[in-house]
Formats: sequence, C-alpha cells, structure tokens
Amino acid sequence: MTGHKELLRIASDIATRAGERAAVLRQAGAEVAASKSSETDVVTAADRETERLIRELLAEARPDDGFLGEESGDATGSTGLAWVVDPIDGTVNYLYGIPHWAVSIAVVEGDPDPATWTALAGVVLNAPADELFTAVRGGGAALNGTGIHVAEAVPLAQALIGTGFGYVAERREQQTDVLRGIIGSVRDIRRMGTASLDLCAVASGRLNAYYEWGLNAWDFAAAALIASEAGATVAGEAGGPPSSDLVIAGHPEVADALARLLRKPWM
Ligand code: IPD
Repeated sequence: MTGHKELLRIASDIATRAGERAAVLRQAGAEVAASKSSETDVVTAADRETERLIRELLAEARPDDGFLGEESGDATGSTGLAWVVDPIDGTVNYLYGIPHWAVSIAVVEGDPDPATWTALAGVVLNAPADELFTAVRGGGAALNGTGIHVAEAVPLAQALIGTGFGYVAERREQQTDVLRGIIGSVRDIRRMGTASLDLCAVASGRLNAYYEWGLNAWDFAAAALIASEAGATVAGEAGGPPSSDLVIAGHPEVADALARLLRKPWM
C-alpha cells in the first residue's frame, strides 16, 4: 500500500495546482453561481471548476480511491481510502477578495464519515499567503516544511479563540448566544471566515483554541489532522471525534477548559 508520505505528496501537488487555478480565476473576477443551505451560502464558478480539477488529478493519480467533495458529491472506491476535498474553504472571503481562503485535501481510511474514519494525510493551502500546512498521521505537522506546534497552555482569560458561524439565520443567532456566554471570559474572539485555516492557526500557535458548530466534514478533514499532529486536542461533542455537531481544538488544557465553558442553549 502507498505510504502516507506518498499520499501527502500527491495531496500537496494537487492542492498547489488547485490553488494556482483558483487564484487565476479570482483575478478574473468571482461571481456567485448558486446558493446552497441559504441565500448567503454561496458557491462560485471557481469552487466548481477547482473541485473539477482536483477530482480529475486525483482520478489520474489514485483512480481506485473514493472521493467526497463539497461541490460534486461522493464516489465509493475499492481501496478503502477516500479523498475529502474542499476546493475553496472561505468562499465568502474569496468572493469579496479577502486574501484568506484555502484549498483543503485529506485522505482518509474507512467510510467517508468523520465519526469513524482515520485521516492518514492532509494539506491545507492558504493560496493567497503561500502557506502550505501539512500533516501525516504519526509524523507531525508542518508549515511550508517546518514543524509547527500548538501554543503553550494559557488560562482562558488569556486565550485568543477562533470560531465561525453557519449560513442559516436561526443557527447564527444560536451561535451568537453561545458567543455572548464566553466572550467575557477569554482574551478575545476571531472570526476569520475559513474554518480549515482556523484549525491550522491553532496548529501553529496563532490561536489558542477554536470551536464551531455545524461544519461539514470537508471543512475540517485535513485541518483536524494537522492540528492534532501539532499537539492539539481535536474533539467533538462529549469528547468524541470532531463532527458536524462540534469541532473544538486547542492545547489539551485550553480545549478542555473551553469545552467546559461552552454551552449550547438549543440542546
Ligand atoms: C465555511 C467557512 C467558515 C465557517 C463556515 C463554513 P465554506 O466554509 O469555513 O469559516 O464558519 O461554517 O461553512 O462555505 O467557505 O467552504
């Protein structure tokens, strides 16, 4: 079976080509092509074209693996491996020309379900900043080839916390209630608009912790591995695996303290 490092090389090469393509498309101008869960949950033509490119390149390099992508759905493979892809995470940043969006590619073993899969390798490319975050299972995490690690533990009062909001109005209001409950107890909050990069920010010590409810598996598949290989706890509800219900990440002590502070009023 192909080694994890070879899988990482494939993911890195394809993410680099996809990031170049998406950047060229952005220069030509980005427009909304359709909306998904709400009118503000948009997809651009570039999301679709970039995923098409990634899918084609993966089909050449790894024709028998499965695929799960944000824009083009899933396909079952015969190898037990599947590629989980968000062609442009941070679509709204991309649309507005805010240079903070990413191509995210993970390869996982098992069913394409974050509750049960084992991520083997993952890359998150912040294309506008030329920053490639990478990890292989058991091999640590890196930024542009140099090892990265989570920040030292700090009390919550000194912790900079990242989060994000969903696209459905009611959910956003509930998320704001949660935020109101914690904002007085932490250093400050960041909402940067790209979940995969938030998790990579935890991995590289730029954030002390991150949490969000309602992510999709492709938003965190690669970055959860990168954060955990960098020494973070990456968990979901009740300390289980990260999921669409909850992703919480940080230095183990900080993630623990944050999990105790967070309350979800709608449950
Ligand atoms: C979104 C971003 C955002 C997060 C949302 C995601 P998309 O992904 O990662 O930061 O708060 O929950 O849906 O739509 O840009 O791929």
